[in-house]
Amino acid sequence: MSPTLTFHGHSAFILSDGEITIAIDPFFSGNPAATISAEEVSCTHIALTHGHEDHFGDTLEIAKKNDATVVAAYEIINYLAEHDHHIGEPGNPGGRIQLSDDAWIAFTHAFHSSSYQGRYMGMPCGLVIHLGGKTVYHCGDTDLFSDLELIGELYKPDVALIPIGDRYTMGPKLASKAADLIGAPVVVPIHYNTWPPIEVDVKEFAPSNAEVKVLQSGDSIRFD
Ligand code: NI
Ligand code: MN
Repeated sequence: MSPTLTFHGHSAFILSDGEITIAIDPFFSGNPAATISAEEVSCTHIALTHGHEDHFGDTLEIAKKNDATVVAAYEIINYLAEHDHHIGEPGNPGGRIQLSDDAWIAFTHAFHSSSYQGRYMGMPCGLVIHLGGKTVYHCGDTDLFSDLELIGELYKPDVALIPIGDRYTMGPKLASKAADLIGAPVVVPIHYNTWPPIEVDVKEFAPSNAEVKVLQSGDSIRFD
């Protein structure tokens, strides 16, 4: 079944094909843009770009409640094991993890940092997720880098989720260039306007070729 991608504000999404449901960067508690609570999340997997609080979010609670497999950097999986969640698939940039015969998650580079409560949480990553015959590239928190073009060439994502909020990631101008390099036909701006320090004008996100889909929290993209 072709998947549905639902935005939950900031950098959080739920991607589901009806069998596999992946909560990506499941930050609900304390997320001013979230329209559902962590208790309402039902998933088989959790995928994390990095360990910062606005991405790690409610991972521990949701993972335990759902017996969900967490796909994340090696150091994050170790952290979870120390906190009594033992179902994890650790990885690092370049690696790909198979979830089923035709579903997988690959880790890419992201230029950022990754820590949680003062602890090093491994490399920050982007995630390429292939599910239900479609490919979604969640860039994570990152600067612009020229290998985005290579990632686009290798994985040919149907949609790219690109941070545009400035300060901690690319702002809209650099993010527009990132979209051009990735070359996905559809791009979704993320990681902006959640709080005043990352307020930007989304209209400044204007890639040359891609269709920009501005999602409100709770909105979905249904792939055909
Ligand atoms: Ni971050
Ligand atoms: Mn962030």
